[in-house]
Formats: sequence, structure tokens, C-alpha cells
Amino acid sequence: MSDQDSPLYIEPSSDSSPSDEVIKRAARLRVEINRANTLYYIENSPEIDDAQWDARMQELLSLEATYPELQTSDSPTQRIGSAPASGFEEVMHRLPMLSLGNVFDEAGLRNWYRRTLAFLEIDHASMVCELKIDGLAIAITYVNGVLDRAATRGDGIRGEDVTTNVRTIRSVPLKLSGDVPSDLELRGEVFLPKSKFASLNSEREQSGLPAYVNPRNSASGSLRQLDSTETAKRPLDMYFYSLGYIDNAVEPKSHSEALDAIKEWGGRVNKWTRNAETVEEVMTAIANASLIRDTLDYDIDGVVIKINSLALQKRLGYVGRDPRWAIAFKFPAERAETTLKAIHVNVGRTGALTPWAELEPVMVGGVTVGRATLHNKDEIARKDLREGDRVIVQRAGDVIPQIVSISSRNERNTQSAPFQFPETCPSCQAITIQSIDEAVTRCVNGACMAQFERLLQHFASRSAMDIEGLGERVAQDLPRLGFVSNIADLYRLHNRRDELLKVDKMGETRVDNLLQAIEASRSQSLPRLLFALGISGVGSESAEWIAHRFRNLTAIQKATEEELLAIDGIGPTIASTLCEYFALEQNQKLVEDLMKLGINPFDQTPKPADEHPVNGMLFVITGKLEIMSRAEAQNQIKELGGKVTSSVSKKTDYVVKGTDPGSKLDKAQQIGIHIIDEGQFRALIGKGVIPVD
Ligand code: IVH
Repeated sequence: MSDQDSPLYIEPSSDSSPSDEVIKRAARLRVEINRANTLYYIENSPEIDDAQWDARMQELLSLEATYPELQTSDSPTQRIGSAPASGFEEVMHRLPMLSLGNVFDEAGLRNWYRRTLAFLEIDHASMVCELKIDGLAIAITYVNGVLDRAATRGDGIRGEDVTTNVRTIRSVPLKLSGDVPSDLELRGEVFLPKSKFASLNSEREQSGLPAYVNPRNSASGSLRQLDSTETAKRPLDMYFYSLGYIDNAVEPKSHSEALDAIKEWGGRVNKWTRNAETVEEVMTAIANASLIRDTLDYDIDGVVIKINSLALQKRLGYVGRDPRWAIAFKFPAERAETTLKAIHVNVGRTGALTPWAELEPVMVGGVTVGRATLHNKDEIARKDLREGDRVIVQRAGDVIPQIVSISSRNERNTQSAPFQFPETCPSCQAITIQSIDEAVTRCVNGACMAQFERLLQHFASRSAMDIEGLGERVAQDLPRLGFVSNIADLYRLHNRRDELLKVDKMGETRVDNLLQAIEASRSQSLPRLLFALGISGVGSESAEWIAHRFRNLTAIQKATEEELLAIDGIGPTIASTLCEYFALEQNQKLVEDLMKLGINPFDQTPKPADEHPVNGMLFVITGKLEIMSRAEAQNQIKELGGKVTSSVSKKTDYVVKGTDPGSKLDKAQQIGIHIIDEGQFRALIGKGVIPVD
């Protein structure tokens, strides 16, 4: 995740109104999600992948949950996808077509299963696992067994009528057989087989059409052809995965029975399904699915886990756009092979020389990748990467693409030579150093222009001071043309408007917008300012903690290493770097200048509620908690100012008793410590209800 994308830290209180920062962030997320939806659903050319979309949606959902007043009717959280594109008739779904929540690991899955059971107040529920096919969802209505109408998901409430196009898909039965309910809707996934994708694209290119970026987009594009004879030429395929609306015929009892019924009626259901009774069994199924993934002729991006009983599914219902009764376990990291065109070295704001790879652009998991990070000098040597090599590129979630290794199919020509890492700074030619404990090579010239340019860019970035218009180019121009030689100079620029207007490509609007954005940034919060200073190791989270503890710039400047270390989450490296930073005269001068220029924010977040009954209390937890995990319980206690220890003593205030408690319970009873159950504990930490016997 880049700095620009880092989610905003928000105080988990619901009774305060949102800060300007929060309002702006929510607005920005709304714009980004809406844009992504349009690109994905309407233009079939996504710029961000599912994980990035999910991260934004989750952040927006949590902001809106904390501050309900942020929930506008046009917020993308209020609908499932995006409006139907024109050209097709609109279809109202009789039951909403939902999406799926995601988990990425076993812990996430366990959490989902635990929450599900807790919601139902039961201790076990059978599950069914299915492949998560990466195509597009379709609902097909059969009236008296005959295909009547097919609709895309659209926004989940309204979709597009694509009946004539769906009729062209060979694997979709036009007529069902056997004892079929008179009004029946089946749902499933339409996709384009991987083997057909390449040939479809080469045909398109030959006829001068743009290539599809991946099989999913080509399936969506193919199904949404206004001319169905075009669709008929595309080798689309389909699997059904559930019942939708069903008239008052006898409904099956479970999802597995529903799948069996669909098969019996002649519908195509994927053969790979696994029943699971426990999370362990689900994990085994997932391991199996990822093993066979490459052998399949369609893309899958994970496994869908569903609670089998339809009665339980009904009780669970859905929240927002996701059912509580199902979850998607997403596979990690997508990989692809491409050519490493060149290796470049960048100078960062702290002087670190960071190599990066220029790649022959390649699609990896839904986005085109043209650059990858190479981390440091040793990494290039360890992987023996050379310009011209064929390499394997990987993207996982939001992280910057990486080169995993050289491809096994790589063939080097005789001129290929190991990469020569520069001995001097590529920007200022000063000597570089590589310390023993650091893998990083650094330019130590405090006056290095490249470092300052990066610092300016970081200072202006979205999660720092958010100065729009101060991007890479302007951050290079301003110092090079002598407008700024330190950060404080930015706030003096308004005196030099006339000179700025003379700069190539600047123009009146640009200059005024830039000056305005700089002015607006004066009121950014203390954590943002602290983060913006670009002190090595101080990220936006640690900046929050530090700002929260010291509350103003002067106090932070005076903070001792011991005081900094006492903050949860601040380790010795940050503490000492911070002290070193403020010990330097030039930085003291910078802070002084900024304050003189009126940039001197105070942290305004409320202090933790000292009066909460948990504050200062000593807890011991014994046995297994049902709803919370032990780690969650411990964190909550800590957040409220309490402590958790592992053994019971006279000092213990409360023993929280779960199922199968250990000998700690006996000891607590012996010495007369207050014993509470999970319900009482939750009431205590939640609403501060002090348990009585
Ligand atoms: S169940 C209400 N089962 O994944 C639950 N969906 O990210 C949603 N998908 O829109 C449907 N394979 O298009 C289900 N075996 C499967 C699936 C599956 C692929 C798609 C579906 C849905 C999307 C959610």
C-alpha cells in the first residue's frame, strides 16, 4: 500500500462529529469507488484490482459506521455495483443479487465462522465449499421449465436483460427437464474459458479492436454485446451455483440439495464441491482447490464457503451487500511472466538508493504492471537479475508489484552482465554508504537535490499535507528553479506568484490552484504534519500516536527517547531517529519557521476515557471465549487502560471465565477473586457495566 492509499486512522468513537479530514477522506473514497465501478462494470477496463476495491470499500463502510451522517444516498455503499449500462432493458431482481465478503487467511475464515455461529447462537454448522469462478453473475428465470429471461447482476437490485445473448451459450439449457417448479430462478457464473481467451484477443487485434485485459472482462464484454450474433461467436460457458427466486414449490433443505436439484433439472453445476464440518476441513478443501487451479480452463480467484442449511441461511440474512451465510476465501498473489527491460535507481527522501525494475507491461491479476520494486542492492544480486531477463512478477493485494525470480524459461544472451549498482548518488554524485546492519545504500549528502525533491513530493502527498498540484514534476521544478530550498519556503511562495507564472507549462490556473492548495494545507492536523516531515520510520500511524501523546510540535521537539519509548507501538529505532532529527539545527530552524508562518496544529482528539471502569484493572482470562478471540479481549482491555496477566494473584481484579476453564478458576475461587463470564465481560468493556454477583 502506498502512502497515498493508506487508510485514515479514526478514533473509534461514535458520538463525536466527523473532522474535516474524515469528511474529505470519505468523499474521496466515494469518488474512487464510483470511478472503479464505472471502469469495471461499464467500460470493462479496470484500473484497480478487487483487493484494492475491497480495501476502499471496507474503509468507507467503517467511516460510515462510525459517523452515520457521512452516509449519503449516493454513496457506493448503498448499492451493490453500478448502474446498468444503456442499451439493454432493465430487470428488477426479485431477490437482490448479493456480493461476498472476503477473507484472505485461516484467521479471517475462523473469525467469520465464529461470528456466524455466535449470531445463530449455535456451536456448529455444516458448510459447502465451491470454486469462486472469476466471471460474471447471471440470473436465469425458467417459466414452466423454459428459459424466459436472463439478467446480469447490475447493481444487485436492477440488472440488464441479456436473454438473447445468454441463449447463445451452449451450456445453458433452454429447457429444464423433470419436476421443475413453475417459476424458478437459477443463478451462476458466466465465463470465457482460458483456452479461448488468447485466440479471441488475437482475432480482435487483427480486426483493429482493442484486446480484452482478462478473461473476466472479455466474458462481460461478450455477454453485453448489443448484437447477439456477436455473442454467439464467443465461446462462453456457464456454471450454476445457487437457486434464486423459487415459487411456492417444495424448497430444498440445504444448499447441497439445491445443487443436486439443479443438476437433476439439467443445469450445469461445477463438479468440484466439498462438504466441510470444520474450519480445518475447509482449509483442506482450499489447499486442494489451489492445487488444481492451474489445471482448470477457467480463472478462479478463491473458494466460496457457504453455510449448507437454507434455514440457517435465511436466519443469517445479509448485511450491506454481503450475505452473512457465505464468504469468499481469496487466493493470494497473482503472478505473470514478463521481460525486465531495465533497472533504474531512485534516490528516496531519506537518501536511500532504491532500485526499481522497468518491465514490459503485463497483466497481473487484473491490472497492467510496468514497474516493480527491487528493494535494494543485495536483492538484485541474490536473485541475479539482469536487464533483458524473463522474470516472474507478483502482486498481492495492495502491495507494489515485486519480481519473485527469474523465469525458468529465461535464456540469456552472451552480453548479459550482472547489474552494476551505482557507487555514487545518481543525483548528486556524492559518495554513498551501506551500513553493516542496513541492506540500504544511502546518499549522505544533506544537500542532495533528489532527496529534497522526494521530500517535497512526500510532504504534499495525499496522506500527508494533501497539496494537490504538487506532484512529481512540480516537486522537481520548484527547487531546480530556485523557488524553494526548504519546506517552509512553500508557504512563502504566494509572494512570488508573478515569477511562478513565467515557469514553463504553469499558467494562471495551475499557479493559483497550487497556491490555494498550499494555503489550505496550513490547517492540516498535527499527525499529518509530523508524518509529512518525512522523518525516517515515522509513518502515518506512528505519527498519530506521537501527536496524540504530545499534542503540539514544540512538545514533540522536546520529547526524550524515554518518553517516546513509553508510547505503545513506538520502538527504539523510531525514538532515536526522532530525537536525532530534532537535534539537528536545520530541523529546529524548520520547525521554528513553520510555526512563525502559522503552521502549528494541535492534536484535538480526546484523551482516552480515564474514567472507564476497566482503567487500571488487572484481568486474567481462563478457558475459551465464544464470541471474542483471546487476543481481541486482551486488546480491548489494554485499550481501556487495563492489564492482562497470565496468573491469578491477590492483585487480580477480575477472572474472565470461558468454556473449559483451567486451574486458574480454582485458584480465583480459593482467594475470592471476582469471576465473570463472557457476557458480563462484554458488558463491562462495552458499556462499562460493572458486574454484580
Ligand atoms: S454465491 C450471495 N458461489 O462471486 C453470494 N458466487 O464476489 C454470491 N461467484 O457475484 C453468490 N463463484 O458472481 C457464489 N460458487 C460461487 C461463485 C460465486 C463465483 C461470484 C459471483 C458473485 C461474486 C462475489
